[in-house]
Amino acid sequence: MGRDIRFYVDSADVGAVSDLVVDNLVHGVTTNPTILERAGRSVGDIPALYERWEAEGAREIFFQTWGDSTDAMLRNANGILSLGDLAVVKVPATRSGFAAASALVSEGASVLITAVYSQAQALTAATIGVRYIAPYLGRLRDAGRDGVAEIAAMQALIEGTGTDVLAASLRSPSDVVALAEVGVPFFTAAPSVLAACFVSDASENAAAEFEAAVERGV
Ligand code: G3P
Repeated sequence: MGRDIRFYVDSADVGAVSDLVVDNLVHGVTTNPTILERAGRSVGDIPALYERWEAEGAREIFFQTWGDSTDAMLRNANGILSLGDLAVVKVPATRSGFAAASALVSEGASVLITAVYSQAQALTAATIGVRYIAPYLGRLRDAGRDGVAEIAAMQALIEGTGTDVLAASLRSPSDVVALAEVGVPFFTAAPSVLAACFVSDASENAAAEFEAAVERGV
């Protein structure tokens, strides 16, 4: 089997997300409370967003749990999971987040540990058996760290464990490419970053020439 490689859209802007999901250019949609807030939404909108993206053909839909204790995180996670089989629960990489993630995995849930900033956290996530980890490339770099090298090290550490890297905080096509080059399989990015992955001026010019040739022939 070939290497499984996927794009996800990291947004709750329903128009921008729908364009990508309906055209089948992304595997699914990822969100977190900040992304919901930026789109003028809140956790109360989660069921309606799930329903919309499921109807549009998303294959996985990620919402992040919240709460100030493991119990609260588990309660909110179970609400997310009850939406349907496409739901993946995101859990922050904190002490109580890891405890919640472990309980969710033992119940058979698909879980992503998000805001992963160290190799030890990546390893911890793999010992728990979560499906994905989301390290933040742009934010690692903002903190003065070599994000690509650190995420490459996480990728090497967990390769073959059943836990995969789904890289986030990607700010340009070259971020995506740099991580793909070190074996990262899954990527989530804002609609603008994905749009920049799809196009180049040279391709647009070539397409215009093809169209012009067709026009000349009719
Ligand atoms: O999913 C991660 C994203 O919300 C963070 O991206 O670019 O704000 O660091 P950014």
